[in-house]
Amino acid sequence: MIHLARSEQVKHLVQRPGRTPWLARRFVGGTDADAALTTAQRLRDDMDISSSLFYLGEYVDAPYLVEHNVEEMISAVRLLGARGLDVNMSADPTAIGYMAGQDLCRRNAERVAEAISAQPARARNCLMLDMEDLSLVAPTLALHQHLLKQGLPVAVTLQSRLRRTEDDLACLLGQPTAVRLVKGAFPLGPEHDLQGRPAITASYLALAKAMLSSQARHAGSYPVFATHDEVLARQLIDLARANGWSPAQYEFEMLYGVRPDWQQSLRTEGFSVRVYLPFGLDWWPYAARRVGENPRNLLLLGRALLGPKYEHVNRAAAS
Ligand code: FDA
Repeated sequence: MIHLARSEQVKHLVQRPGRTPWLARRFVGGTDADAALTTAQRLRDDMDISSSLFYLGEYVDAPYLVEHNVEEMISAVRLLGARGLDVNMSADPTAIGYMAGQDLCRRNAERVAEAISAQPARARNCLMLDMEDLSLVAPTLALHQHLLKQGLPVAVTLQSRLRRTEDDLACLLGQPTAVRLVKGAFPLGPEHDLQGRPAITASYLALAKAMLSSQARHAGSYPVFATHDEVLARQLIDLARANGWSPAQYEFEMLYGVRPDWQQSLRTEGFSVRVYLPFGLDWWPYAARRVGENPRNLLLLGRALLGPKYEHVNRAAAS
């Protein structure tokens, strides 16, 4: 699936202008900021679910593409602020200039964070730094510290599959910042990375225990548990309750289009729920990765690759 996600030929075939196949509609909030805002507003109004917008376009090195990404993010930030929604943006360092130079990436991160800071204050307004492959972990953590020191609203993602994460988390727990914990989407060898789902899930739970400690609460840390693993989420809820955390003091975050029924039922139970809401024209690599995470989603490839003739395949997959 990674191969298909990175194929320029497939991307060219499916990302035709004026066409938004089922697969894109399932996992992507819209092809531009206006459409994404409409989706975010609908999630807020219908289900009281928050969003973190993410402009599609990672791993770019051409300066004009980097600038385009940053401008799209800033215009989405202003639109979110104008609509009175949470101004929460997720960003990959490789989308905002890391591949063209760390200084450019830092300056662009500052621009987005400053734009967020200029919006009407809401508790969860922030630039959430996504965590990419291992080569980006130390630079992303350094970027997070740099923005934090400047008093800008920033948060960072950690991956439970990485052996180094326990130490990285220990450095963050005394700081008033949100930390988003994910299992991790970039498998490596055993030297750097825990092997197998049980070990990665056990590590997630151990890290979450630290995130839900009283030390973290007193420091003003805000835990974000990004997972679709229901068994794990129940353990997190029990842990939070036992350690005296109220549901407003932490949140669950899931990908747009993945387990929407469960997102809604968690919210109905009173938990804070956010959806990671990608938008933009470059939807294929992102959507293909989501398909790879669950074999049921493979049916959705029908129309994306073969056209409307295969609409029935998508109806079956969506049901
Ligand atoms: P797991 O993979 O064990 O799945 C649990 C259950 O959810 C299973 O039943 C599974 O089938 C179902 N499920 C999972 N994905 C699905 C899908 N696409 N469609 C349907 N069902 C699905 N990674 C990273 O390395 N850096 C990052 O910055 C981020 N950022 C991020 C933000 C948010 C909000 C989320 C939810 C995830 C990420 N990730 C990420 C991805 C993360 O590392 C991980 O790969 C996926 O979330 C899958 O892991 P789960 O914890 O959901 O559990």
